[in-house]
Amino acid sequence: MLDTPKPAEIPHADGKILHSVSDGVGVITFNNPDKRNAMSLEMWEGLSHALTALRDDTNVRVVILTGAGDKAFVSGADISQFERTRHNAAASEEYSKRSEAQRALLASYPKPTIACIRGFCLGGGMQVAMLTDIRIASDNSRFGIPAAKLGIAYGYDGLRHLVSLVGPSWARLIMYTGMRIEAAEALRIGLVDRVLPDAELWDATMEIARTISGNAPLAIKAAKITIAEMLKDESKRDMAAIKAIGMACMDSEDFREGRTAFMEKRKPQFKGK
Ligand code: COA
Repeated sequence: MLDTPKPAEIPHADGKILHSVSDGVGVITFNNPDKRNAMSLEMWEGLSHALTALRDDTNVRVVILTGAGDKAFVSGADISQFERTRHNAAASEEYSKRSEAQRALLASYPKPTIACIRGFCLGGGMQVAMLTDIRIASDNSRFGIPAAKLGIAYGYDGLRHLVSLVGPSWARLIMYTGMRIEAAEALRIGLVDRVLPDAELWDATMEIARTISGNAPLAIKAAKITIAEMLKDESKRDMAAIKAIGMACMDSEDFREGRTAFMEKRKPQFKGK
């Protein structure tokens, strides 16, 4: 059997972040396997360039984030930068500001995102994974937020996502102990959505991505916006945005195509309008 040619990978942050596109699926790779894909500030900036390129590419309907090598998704922030960039409260504030825009971009990303996780997913890596819409992990993946082992305050957004996934009690256990969690337990407590044997992980993640990319983009966007608004404090919810995307969806060509294709017993061809 011939190998399928690999799609071209566009480098960012000196090649430590890569992005590529195939079959309507964008892929972003954290590519510093020697450091277990630890995230430097430059990589956060590279991530934002990759996310922006895939956001603006009309062929891309879903984005997968993954780590290079078989050892880690992302092993957290690059601790070797801490002495210079995060040594006290003021420096830490500055550090957070530099990665804030990139985190916000992922948090409010207009297309569905999937984290494909093998090996270690720790600290800031958990934050990246929790900012995506869906987490698919291999049976060798391991999770943890070792902030208490380093003396770091994890921050509001990271903890809000953790609590919304696993509830306050597990969030406390994870944060107070800095413990490692195996894949099976991560699945049981809702930290990840599906666990697969390592050899099946990539194909299974791509299959989910392709299914999403074949579905109606506006219907997916309506679900994405509505769920994101639901997770906000009630006082901050943008009910007008939910209504607007609902109207756009129900008035769309794709809705017409969806019901016509059903009646004609054929696969719908969605255009996202
Ligand atoms: N920041 C900077 N460097 C890191 C790193 C991080 N978060 N995680 C791993 N590395 C580096 C190691 O220092 C080591 O560098 P070296 O080869 O120059 O010695 C290299 O990556 C390989 O790591 P190593 O510890 O030898 O690999 P391992 O497979 O035995 O363990 C981890 C992997 C991820 C469990 C371990 O490296 C670790 O605990 N990293 C820190 C995780 C952490 O605290 N993250 C939260 C940060 S906020």
